[in-house]
Amino acid sequence: MNSSDNALLTIEGKTYSLPIVHGTEGERAIDISKLLQETGCTTLDLGYKNTASCTSRITFLNGNKGILSYRGYGIEELAEKCLFIEVAYLLVHGHLPTATEYDHFRNLLNRFSLIHEDMIHFFDHFPPSAPPMAILSVMVNSLCSYYPEMNDDLTTDIDLTAARLISKIRTIAAFSYKKSLGKPLIYPRPELPYCANFLNMMFDNPVEPYTVRPEAVAALNKLLILHADHEQNCSTATVRLVGSAGVNLYASIAAGINALWGPLHGGANEAVIAMLEAIHQDGGNFQKYIDKAKDKSDAFKLSGFGHRVYKTFDPRGKIIKNACDELLAVLNVHDPLLEIALRLEEVALKDAYFIERNLFPNVDFYSGIIYRALGIPTNMFTVMFALGRLPGWIAQWKEQQEDPRSKIGRPRQVYMGEPARPFVPMSER
Ligand code: SDX
Repeated sequence: MNSSDNALLTIEGKTYSLPIVHGTEGERAIDISKLLQETGCTTLDLGYKNTASCTSRITFLNGNKGILSYRGYGIEELAEKCLFIEVAYLLVHGHLPTATEYDHFRNLLNRFSLIHEDMIHFFDHFPPSAPPMAILSVMVNSLCSYYPEMNDDLTTDIDLTAARLISKIRTIAAFSYKKSLGKPLIYPRPELPYCANFLNMMFDNPVEPYTVRPEAVAALNKLLILHADHEQNCSTATVRLVGSAGVNLYASIAAGINALWGPLHGGANEAVIAMLEAIHQDGGNFQKYIDKAKDKSDAFKLSGFGHRVYKTFDPRGKIIKNACDELLAVLNVHDPLLEIALRLEEVALKDAYFIERNLFPNVDFYSGIIYRALGIPTNMFTVMFALGRLPGWIAQWKEQQEDPRSKIGRPRQVYMGEPARPFVPMSER
């Protein structure tokens, strides 16, 4: 990060010089760290559309060019050539693992793949209709009770805790699914790699053995890689903000899970399927839904379309769309919702409303088609997003904890309420 020039700001005739910070890829930011102290003014930026909350060495996005990279590696190459666990290691540790480092990481993930047997009783007390994201955040938050080392000292073996979380979240997700069906839990198996182990825990059962298909494992690895990090999105910013108060990693991640749940964020992957199913039920009348999305009097938004940063195709969406075709062909699955999604995209991208606003399909538009082909229920799609995003959340939390400049996050506001006024006792109101 170098500051080689300044921005000039004039307020009531006085000019202030603010340093401009330059990022690795040429991004520029005006450093306003001393703005309030020097000018008495804060800045107002609803939704933080124009605000960088931190510097980071983890992920780079270029929203105009549709570029996404983790630690300098392009997402396309990582999705094509890596396993999810390699990318998780890259995000958390800053480099791709050597064979020795990878084996050590895999052994840790195996060692940590069980959850405390007492935690299994937690599942008995959720109603069958409990949202999987609610269960996930409760269970992840509860891990700090079983591994209290970080409760007092956040720097206590972050890397071990990272491996513990990455491994256990997979078991928690699969166990919650089995419990929701009243089916026996399938425990992790030491010989199965990360994604195969998850699919086996989800779909194996004692009387109908599940065959883990390599094509399904490959598709899941790719999906989890594509979701692994995305700079300062809503849930990652939440993890950082909660962590900035000195909260342990488990509880910070649980906060991120809750932020991801929203239909404007990670919950969109489930909302996309609901939208496509509604269009399917409606005889494929996608124009009706495009018109609803354009109607300002209607709160409906086209789920899976649009993005705060990408103003062109989301590079992840392009890869997932191609992976859809490959997986459905090899599994010989015909999903009518894919045809509807393809037509919806085609018509929307020719519509002036979407063109003028640079609204393109995002990561959530096609991901549900793959999850469906894998047999994952719709109400677990956002859980799948969380499984993928976990290494990114951990890497971002760790980076903040290790930054000596880090402070508790505490934005300001502009007060627009009542001016000071005298108290009136109730008898006189
Ligand atoms: C994720 O930030 C990340 O990186 C997130 C994520 C990650 O990896 O972490 O990429 C994952 O959350 C992807 C986004 C998933 N959400 C959805 O698919 C929900 C549908 N999309 C929209 O709600 C919206 O596009 C957002 C929330 C994604 C972005 O909202 P912004 O940046 O606040 O943009 P905006 O609401 O100001 O929209 C600008 C204009 C508005 O119209 P005008 O007021 O200019 O007339 O575009 C319109 C919006 O009404 N618009 C849409 C639309 N998205 C934006 N209109 C119809 N359908 C949509 N989907």
